[in-house]
Amino acid sequence: MLNVAILISGRGSNMQALIDACAQDNFPARIVRVISNNPDVQGLERAKEAGIETAVINHRDYDSREDFEDAIDAELNAAGAKMICLAGFMRILDSRFVNRWKNRILNIHPSLLPSFKGLHTHERALEAGVRYTGCTTHFVRPEMDDGPIIMQAALAVNPDETADQLASRVLRLEHQIYPETLRLVALGRVRAGDKKAHIENAAFPEEGLISPSLSEK
Ligand code: GRF
Repeated sequence: MLNVAILISGRGSNMQALIDACAQDNFPARIVRVISNNPDVQGLERAKEAGIETAVINHRDYDSREDFEDAIDAELNAAGAKMICLAGFMRILDSRFVNRWKNRILNIHPSLLPSFKGLHTHERALEAGVRYTGCTTHFVRPEMDDGPIIMQAALAVNPDETADQLASRVLRLEHQIYPETLRLVALGRVRAGDKKAHIENAAFPEEGLISPSLSEK
């Protein structure tokens, strides 16, 4: 059983998806702590409702990033965490912390990495006119939104939709791939290389349609 801590900064819907997955019979991971850097967020309420121990480690209470991250590290160790899932955690983690937890930090990002790293991914995807977008789970490396990709899910962009509409469609995919990623990692089926991750015995879906196509009306 893999002991996992989740780091959040906000509403915590991905955290909820991980909590729900861990509550299922035979899921190979359990959540031992939810840590938020913001004291008043919905994610903390959700974690408490699920009976999970929470901690607030507010970056504003620390003089330096190092001190803030050392406090997180101490909390993770006190909780017995062996793996970290970032789930909408909005602080950049320093290379010292990331390397200490090398290959033991997972993240989800709302784009098909390496496209659209950073914020406002859906606005930027719509502006760029890409035909597909989606979400990515990956091992965390010191550079932002970088690291070996584990899973991705894609959908066709409707150029007429708003960024919010696109975000909510991508979010539904996030809630599918993040628990599945954690399951594969917890089962020891994912090997992180320097640049790429390898999934043992991965099954590959059929090729999809090329979008957009002319409708036959
Ligand atoms: C998600 O879109 C996630 O991919 C990104 O931040 C958002 C967090 O949403 N990293 P939630 O807090 O999980 O609802």
